[in-house]
Amino acid sequence: MPKVLAIETSCDETSVSVVSNYQDVYKINSNIVASQIKDHSKWGGVVPELAARKHLELIPNVLEKALESASVDINGIDLIASTVAPGLVGCLRVGSITARALCMLHSKPYLGVHHLEGHLASVLFLKDYPRPPLLVLLVSGGHTELIKLGENNIIERLGRSFDDAAGEAFDKVGRLLGLKYPGGPEIERIAQNGDPLRFDLPKCRISDGKGRFRKYDFSFSGLKTAVLRLTQKINETDDILPIEDIAASFERVVAEVLVERSIDCCVDHNLHNIVVVGGVAANNTLRKMMIREASKKSIKVDLAPLSLCTDNAAMIGAAALSRLNNGNYKSSLKLGVSARLPIDLASSLYDKNPPF
Ligand code: KG4
Ligand code: ZN
Repeated sequence: MPKVLAIETSCDETSVSVVSNYQDVYKINSNIVASQIKDHSKWGGVVPELAARKHLELIPNVLEKALESASVDINGIDLIASTVAPGLVGCLRVGSITARALCMLHSKPYLGVHHLEGHLASVLFLKDYPRPPLLVLLVSGGHTELIKLGENNIIERLGRSFDDAAGEAFDKVGRLLGLKYPGGPEIERIAQNGDPLRFDLPKCRISDGKGRFRKYDFSFSGLKTAVLRLTQKINETDDILPIEDIAASFERVVAEVLVERSIDCCVDHNLHNIVVVGGVAANNTLRKMMIREASKKSIKVDLAPLSLCTDNAAMIGAAALSRLNNGNYKSSLKLGVSARLPIDLASSLYDKNPPF
């Protein structure tokens, strides 16, 4: 039963987890997440330098707690993993250096993990988790992607956002409406008292340059601008901004766009299973709409467990164990970190000569 110690520090959560697996069952022995939301909320978003310093401050304690609550010491750990890309470089470095230093000190194998592969792996904790081939809708603060996970876990990106990610749009619209950071959970909270059909907002598309649209790609910056114009227009004539109705209408349109394009992509590629992961996958309107609409096309939907939608180290541990199980992968201790790396190049993290 291999046990992995996993570290996630790609953005504003300092997280360490111990995950083990036996045959097909993945188990969380501990998953400590220290959120920095309070430190960044007064700035309206994540401040990279502040986040990196906070990770440094928090990691010794989070690491100790993760081992303690898994009732294991470092000798009982078989391998150590950390997120290495994509993310904020200064932040990634804290997790990567901690993990590699521990590997050197205790002679353990090291695995550098792609953050988005971590999000994909969050469904491995579901009972009867879905097997490829399947389509993944990955919706987070930094990414909105449609990914085909083929036989032998071959990863192919079929769609993406050309501007803002869905979570980024939630955060920016939240700020426009005077809500706290991060905007996603706040919009969801106030939207419960709003009318989702009150405002007609655009479902923006990306042109293919030949008079048609790219079917599986996304654009959310136009939607954000439409909300800005709407609030300006209402402010000219009215004293009170109906923020609940705006939030509900915005949330509905984002969910409709994500659901419609995911289902089209799934049908066109003859896939029968959609998996939804990432921070925005916590959104209840999206979760319900995806299940309802997919069932009309006989598509099965698997949603990341609510507690594992936003960033956490357990999903990084599951991705590392899955790599290990699928071919005994190991990364070079010389592997560094990178702000960007497309998910279909994640296998390069296990090359003898690392990509960065
Ligand atoms: O996956 P994640 O923790 O970090 C990234 O890898 O980016 O996602 C964070 C994003 C934020 O933009 C946040 O506003 C959004 O996920 N989010 C939500 C909800 N919970 C978090 N968006 C909509 N509804 C939610 N309930
Ligand atoms: Zn993430």
